[in-house]
Amino acid sequence: MTDTSAELTVDEHLREDEWFDSISRDCVDGLTSDPKWLSPVWFYDEVGSRLFDEITKLDEYYPTRAEASLLADHAAEIIERSGADTLVELGSGTSDKTEHLLDALDATGTLERYVPFDVSGETVRNAADRLIDRYPGLRIHAVVGDFHRHLGEIPQVGRRLVAFLGGTIGNLSPGERSPFLRDLASTMSDDDHLLLGCDLVKDHETLVTAYDDPSGVTAEFNRNALRHANSRLGADFVPENFEHRAVWNGQDAWIEMRLRSTVDQDVDLGSLDTTVHFEAGEELRTEISAKFTPARIDAELTDAGFVVVAMWTAEPGYLLTLARRSITRQE
Ligand code: SAH
Ligand code: TRP
Repeated sequence: MTDTSAELTVDEHLREDEWFDSISRDCVDGLTSDPKWLSPVWFYDEVGSRLFDEITKLDEYYPTRAEASLLADHAAEIIERSGADTLVELGSGTSDKTEHLLDALDATGTLERYVPFDVSGETVRNAADRLIDRYPGLRIHAVVGDFHRHLGEIPQVGRRLVAFLGGTIGNLSPGERSPFLRDLASTMSDDDHLLLGCDLVKDHETLVTAYDDPSGVTAEFNRNALRHANSRLGADFVPENFEHRAVWNGQDAWIEMRLRSTVDQDVDLGSLDTTVHFEAGEELRTEISAKFTPARIDAELTDAGFVVVAMWTAEPGYLLTLARRSITRQE
């Protein structure tokens, strides 16, 4: 389905009912596994998106600030080196930090098109409305889709800079990361560039506090996955019976977000016709956030068919990488 106006086109590749079926199947799989897990897609309803926005403003949550400062300092160089006229952004969310890149494109007079891509149609539409007001003449071609399935639907127009920011690459499992990066490389031409933002390995305390802030916003965000499941499925999770935990897993180099059941309890999953039992102390994994080293990013990008053009880092350890497709193609 496509909606078009003079400045805005929105392609919808997710049928609400199909998407709902797929996340419902995942929910049963995860909650009947040992250990239990729940897909991070349950974080993001309207309340969840607002809580995430609050997280990005917390003192303890450094990644957003570090990435914004890297973009502010290097956007002009990134735009110049990429020669782009079209900015594609995967998992674009509210597109806040994107304005640094759009400003730099605007300043060189090459700004033609912005392609925000996100699973949340409402979020991209809101962002598009704001950006159309801010950048007169900008054409926005939004894509509502799942970046594990719909990368091939991104419009192949212009010379493109494909941004994937916010450390979202770290929320993919290692098994998802490599096919995702290969798929992405296969949709890009030799003139396109990739801009990847990812968080770096650092001391445990800084990492854990970023995902377990004393004001409890992250805890509410985590528990919101349960509230969302209650409202969408008619499940009867009691969010107060689950405690937020952020645990550094040094072996896998990722932070694990978990919800620990504080009591023995049964949860009825409503329309999924399943009841699951939680022991007191049992933990449900809701998200991983992998942390990288520059060498690791270089190796994974090279393996997927990219070549690194430049890297920039900011304190307390955040990395922006500019890459393009390698000439020897690895299809
Ligand atoms: N880039 C923004 C938002 C990061 S939050 C920032 O840096 O602040 C992660 C975003 O990715 C959310 O907007 C979420 O809706 C989107 N997202 C998560 N999984 C996705 C998927 N499989 N396909 C497309 N978008 C996805
Ligand atoms: N991409 C973000 C990150 O990994 C997502 C995120 C931030 C997050 N805070 C969170 C996910 C708390 C779950 C819980 O940093």
